[in-house]
Amino acid sequence: MSSQPFTLKWGILATGGIAKTFTKDLLIDPSTRNVTDIRHEVVAAASSSSTSRAQDFLTDVGAPSSAKAYGSYANLAADKNVDIIYIATPHSHHYQNARLCLEAGKHVLCEKPFTVNAEQTKILIDIARKRKLFLMEAVWTRFFPLAREVMQFVGEGRLGEVKRVWADLSFWNDVEKEFGTGHRMVNLDLAGGALLDLGVYSLTWVFQILYHLQPLPRTPPIVSSTMTKYAPTGCDSQTTVLLTFPSSGAHAIASTSLHISSVPSPSHPSATPAPVRIQGTLGELTIASPIYRPTSYTLIPASNAKRGKLADFEYATKEFEVEGGGHGMFYEADECARCVRDGKGESEVCPLEESLEVMRVMDGVRGAGALVYPGGLESVEFPLEV
Ligand SMILES: NC(=O)c1ccc[n+]([C@@H]2O[C@H](COP(=O)([O-])OP(=O)(O)OC[C@H]3O[C@@H](n4cnc5c(N)ncnc54)[C@H](OP(=O)(O)O)[C@@H]3O)[C@@H](O)[C@H]2O)c1
Repeated sequence: MSSQPFTLKWGILATGGIAKTFTKDLLIDPSTRNVTDIRHEVVAAASSSSTSRAQDFLTDVGAPSSAKAYGSYANLAADKNVDIIYIATPHSHHYQNARLCLEAGKHVLCEKPFTVNAEQTKILIDIARKRKLFLMEAVWTRFFPLAREVMQFVGEGRLGEVKRVWADLSFWNDVEKEFGTGHRMVNLDLAGGALLDLGVYSLTWVFQILYHLQPLPRTPPIVSSTMTKYAPTGCDSQTTVLLTFPSSGAHAIASTSLHISSVPSPSHPSATPAPVRIQGTLGELTIASPIYRPTSYTLIPASNAKRGKLADFEYATKEFEVEGGGHGMFYEADECARCVRDGKGESEVCPLEESLEVMRVMDGVRGAGALVYPGGLESVEFPLEV
């Protein structure tokens, strides 16, 4: 392998909240997290509203002065200097934006949820495979050192047979006051709602443990669900998904809400139940909040009055620090760089087939709850103004 790090040249599509966080992380020197084989360069950003908004964004995040600002997403997609595009628009627009970039021959990292429905995700996957481009849903959680360690622990069978996973991501919002009807979290025109925005993280933990760790070929879950709507707009405000994984018989409960919180009182963390519980025959592994940016887990060995301790591990809590003073979005970016460098079309940690399966589950849950997004949001037509 060359001693020179591989450089991945990024274009940033959209200039909102998460685009800013992600791009700032890209600009952190990878050596601060002991990464020396790859590096990132921010070479361009685009805003759908104006070039000056894109320029302000680049200045704000501290991008190099050579980075180009575009006032249209199409111009960014056409920039020959860009290798990969990070899509950070509301999910209503992911299909159109990601397809624009793939059709222009760019690798793509697309924010979660991948698209509005599974049919759209499948088309993006087909295009990427046909054109030999890298594509990944930006499920950054999967790349945290904690997530890698938990996956290894469970994968080695240390918890015994995993029989059940609970996962919740709920925000205690005064949702009417905070979001009203226009905010993307609740706006149907932006594919708002708890399931697609937050519930996807609950499903991520369920899928990592009960789907990803299955021997191949993996068997998808049997799903039932219940959903409550947010009256002012009709999106879902509370959704609970019950999953059975037929190959192991394991159950999962994935929940999300805009009205209650996974962390009801941040000043009393010890009184907060763990939002992720992975329950095995030899004990339990719990993950503390926030589950999308996980930095603490606890091992609880099972014991039996007659047989004593069953597990080969002790009760312990392990804390992680996000390195380099960043938010932790660089871990997924590093994966993109390594995959592109190695000519891989997808990540083994966040495989396309798994993103598609999660989208299928969410389609089924929305179907059962009669949650349909309006206009062309569910369409696969391209190009389409949404
Ligand atoms: N990974 C995470 O932790 C995380 C956290 C938050 C959000 N997300 C995901 O990231 C995506 C964006 O979320 P965000 O919080 O960054 O949203 P945001 O702050 O509202 O930013 C979205 C950006 O998209 C662009 N955009 C294009 N068409 C738009 C339209 N019709 N309405 C509104 N914005 C439009 C705008 O940028 P221009 O004007 O420059 O084009 C806007 O600034 C969502 O899919 C969300 O689920 C992920």
